[in-house]
Amino acid sequence: MTPRELVFDATRQFAAAELVFGHGTDNAYDEAVFLVFHALGLPFDVSDEILDRPLNEAQRLAAESIVTERIATRRPAAYITGHMWFAGHEFQVDDRVLVPRSPLAEVIGSAFAPWLDCNKVGRILEIGTGSGCIAIAAALALPHVQVDATDNACDALAVAELNLARFPEVRPRVRLIEADLFPSTDERYDLIISNPPYVPSDVAAALPPEYLHEPSVALAAGPDGLAVVRRILQLAPARLTDPGALLIDVGEMASAIDRAFPSVNFTWIDLAFGGEGIGIAYKRDFTF
Ligand SMILES: C[S@@+](CC[C@H](N)C(=O)[O-])C[C@H]1O[C@@H](n2cnc3c(N)ncnc32)[C@H](O)[C@@H]1O
Repeated sequence: MTPRELVFDATRQFAAAELVFGHGTDNAYDEAVFLVFHALGLPFDVSDEILDRPLNEAQRLAAESIVTERIATRRPAAYITGHMWFAGHEFQVDDRVLVPRSPLAEVIGSAFAPWLDCNKVGRILEIGTGSGCIAIAAALALPHVQVDATDNACDALAVAELNLARFPEVRPRVRLIEADLFPSTDERYDLIISNPPYVPSDVAAALPPEYLHEPSVALAAGPDGLAVVRRILQLAPARLTDPGALLIDVGEMASAIDRAFPSVNFTWIDLAFGGEGIGIAYKRDFTF
């Protein structure tokens, strides 16, 4: 068998098994490429010649075994390979942290333009850092900023620490803090960024098996899904500089947030690369 044949075979098997995709890929073919290439140690820009070269027995078995594991366990592919890409960077992941996939990557990739003048952003707070992907990608995008990144799950912070070790160039500028949303100091930030949990608890309990491998504290946020967002919105204005901004990923909850918090005037950002629910509110947009 060749790598190309293995990918097509895995694609057929994934579709037949009715797997759910949503952890970095959105279809059976891309998931098959991600897993089979990982098993064979192939780069994503592999040549046609390698794709059509017959594999030896050990290579075929390695690829088939990863495909079987994905179907049998329903674990997200990133937990099987132990890594995921976010904003162009590779992060280490396991089931202590959400699989990185926030569309905030697009806004970070443009160095927050046109929403913020990056020269005026000196201090960033990321709330709920998980793997650390957002904090680290922001520090890589803006080489002058200091980033504080909180999480109240210390096992998630352990993964963030591993990722920070992978990017020594930003290590001196990123501080990981175990805290309930905000650091206990009274520091203010030019940008607060967060992809908080926002799934209503009944919806979270009924998610497809792939999502049930992720930490429930990373997804579920009370009966209306707004338990964490509500506290962030109440506390954020006092922790923002003037002008400063809160940039948040709330997925499909944007309209619910507009209804629940009419005194916060979010601008919902149109995304070129897909996804929804990325909102920005400047300090002046908090009118309570
Ligand atoms: C949706 S995940 C986001 C992880 C990561 N920032 C990302 O985008 O991949 C939400 C994170 O918020 C953390 N979290 C939940 N409640 C929190 C709280 N009260 N204070 C700090 N972090 C919290 C969870 O542990 C989880 O790591």
